Amino acid sequence: MVIIENLRNIKTTRIPVWFMRQAGRYLPEYQEIRKKAGDFFSMCYNPKLASEVTLQPIRRFDLDAAIIFADILVVPHALGINIEFNKGPVVEQVFNDSNRFNAILKNLNNFHLSEKVAAILETIALTKSRLPESVALIGFAGSPFTVATYIIEGGSSRDFSYVKKAIIINKERFNTLINILTDATIIYLKEQIKAGAQIIKLFDSWASVLYGDNYLEYIIKPTNKIISAIREDYPNVPIICFPRGSGLNYLDFGKSVDCNALALDEAVPLDFILSKLQNIPNKVLQGNFSNYTLAYGNIDQIAIEAKKVITTFNTKPFIFNLGHGILPETKIENVEALMGEIRSWS
Ligand code: CP3
Repeated sequence: MVIIENLRNIKTTRIPVWFMRQAGRYLPEYQEIRKKAGDFFSMCYNPKLASEVTLQPIRRFDLDAAIIFADILVVPHALGINIEFNKGPVVEQVFNDSNRFNAILKNLNNFHLSEKVAAILETIALTKSRLPESVALIGFAGSPFTVATYIIEGGSSRDFSYVKKAIIINKERFNTLINILTDATIIYLKEQIKAGAQIIKLFDSWASVLYGDNYLEYIIKPTNKIISAIREDYPNVPIICFPRGSGLNYLDFGKSVDCNALALDEAVPLDFILSKLQNIPNKVLQGNFSNYTLAYGNIDQIAIEAKKVITTFNTKPFIFNLGHGILPETKIENVEALMGEIRSWS
């Protein structure tokens, strides 16, 4: 599998590629199944449907990896926090309710028995059995800080004011929350590997909110704790970290976190990548084509920008990806054009 070779620092002539949110609303066949499933979580917990949508982009495009169809909010959901999807996620705010918060803490003891987790594991096993041998299966989880933001803010946020406030005025409980999310994530990811996931990715979509000591405490440290726990049991499973929006902190993250690959968002300047990030020992880079160029660019713009990404990264082992997930309005022809450009290099 070329993606795994590159993750082990072996360069291949074929450039490995997959796209964040490659299973999603831009595909008519996804919309079709989504309608059948009802709400979003019902689809995540239905192994047949979830496996089917995981495979849809693999059938359409010559991709090197499939990412299991699930969500980073499965962990808090399986811990007993009520979550619904409206336009975005609506998350029960347990952080300021001591009774509910303590109940959630207790649920960690039974987390490994959760039916929700079991459904995701079944999806992994089913998908693995249906996937071509050349395509790797990626399992994933949200990083503790990013998941904590959804719990404390009650969903997506514009300014993360409750999180920033909690770190100052309620640090002890915030630390407790980060710790239980870290422990649950370790259990969850080890189970995913046992079920058949061949690569693990940790999404820290809101790492950009923190800086200085808090970046070290809540981004770097919990991530390292998760990675060393996985490595104890599964030393050979490659781990990709995505501390999105980290800017200059990408360098610190790359030097201090023991992951195999660092996923970059599209805002990371190509000269910073060349002069700094590519020189971090034992770190493969993944990135960082703009999801907006993919959605709204014409074929020429897509080809020009793809060349820039490839000429920057392709002197070393690397994985082509977007800087963030595929937008629902993305045209399939655009994805095909991008794939054509990437494949013309090998
Ligand atoms: O193809 C894949 O990438 C695999 C599946 C996947 C989903 N979510 C499916 C999904 C993955 C890896 C995720 C991760 C995820 N979920 C992240 C981290 C990556 C990132 O985007 O930064 C985050 C922050 C979430 C939380 C989340 N899930 C939000 C904020 C939303 C609502 C916004 C939106 O795009 O609708 C979701 C819903 C969601 N997760 C959808 C999908 C396909 C859309 C659901 C639908 O079909 O209506």
